[in-house]
Amino acid sequence: MMTFIQEREMAVMPDETNGSPAGDCGDMKITEALSFVGEKITARPRVGIILGSGLGGIADAVENRAAIPYADIPHWPKATAQGHAGRLVFGELEGVNVAVMQGRIHHYEGYSTEELTFPMRVLGELGISTLYATNASGGVNLGYKPGDLVAVYDHINFMGINPLTGRNNEKWGPRFPDMSYAYDREYLEMLESAATEEKIPLRRGVYIAFSGPSFETPAEIRMARAMGADLVGMSTVPEVIVANHMSVRVAVVSCVANFAAGVKPEKLRHQEVLDAMSRAARSMERLMRAFLRKIS
Ligand code: HPA
Repeated sequence: MMTFIQEREMAVMPDETNGSPAGDCGDMKITEALSFVGEKITARPRVGIILGSGLGGIADAVENRAAIPYADIPHWPKATAQGHAGRLVFGELEGVNVAVMQGRIHHYEGYSTEELTFPMRVLGELGISTLYATNASGGVNLGYKPGDLVAVYDHINFMGINPLTGRNNEKWGPRFPDMSYAYDREYLEMLESAATEEKIPLRRGVYIAFSGPSFETPAEIRMARAMGADLVGMSTVPEVIVANHMSVRVAVVSCVANFAAGVKPEKLRHQEVLDAMSRAARSMERLMRAFLRKIS
């Protein structure tokens, strides 16, 4: 059997350029990461799963697990945020081959766009066709309360960056990818029927991403609400853009961890976010499993 790396080398054309303005070094870094990861796994993942703040425990449920610390993977950016373990876990969930990112990296940690997109590029090159991302968010919609689960159906990129900035690698996708259906419509329906079956209330909402790391001001949250946002967070949008660029279908489930700034008089604290997420972890896992059963 050909290794992942041999298959990839055969697919790479000599005149190919990569996504970084600095030439082909970004592509070589991905090749090295793929080579390292490819030796540790026996099956290609079909679904990439990103576990947000406080949800890392879900990776423990993966069967026939191979867990690789990010620090061991060549060029993989380290997750520094509290509540993010920093491991890539391969195995099966509900019979589906998955690659679980136990902890993600954020723009506010100071990464370049090349670093920020690196994990998704590696997962895309490993062959995932689905991204299931989770996150913690603040409730902008005044009807939302901490603990609510929300299927994201659209986003507003208010981070001030786009992860596709730089030279485009046509092998991955077009220069100007369409974002009309960034959140797969069929997956949204599958999430909703999975939630109904599991008796988990699930809303549908628009996620706005700010860069952070400071939480938003009450005025910013009023603006976000006026713009049509239901949820606010500091992640996910870069990964969703890269996934769409690579034609990976996307499902995102957000857990409302707190009322967004200004909704209540209390100040926002990261610990409150982590506590809310650990309370929601069980229903997040049940919903994810029910979704995986539907696509298996
Ligand atoms: N704002 C931004 N990001 C967040 C929040 C918030 O209120 N809660 C959890 N992540």
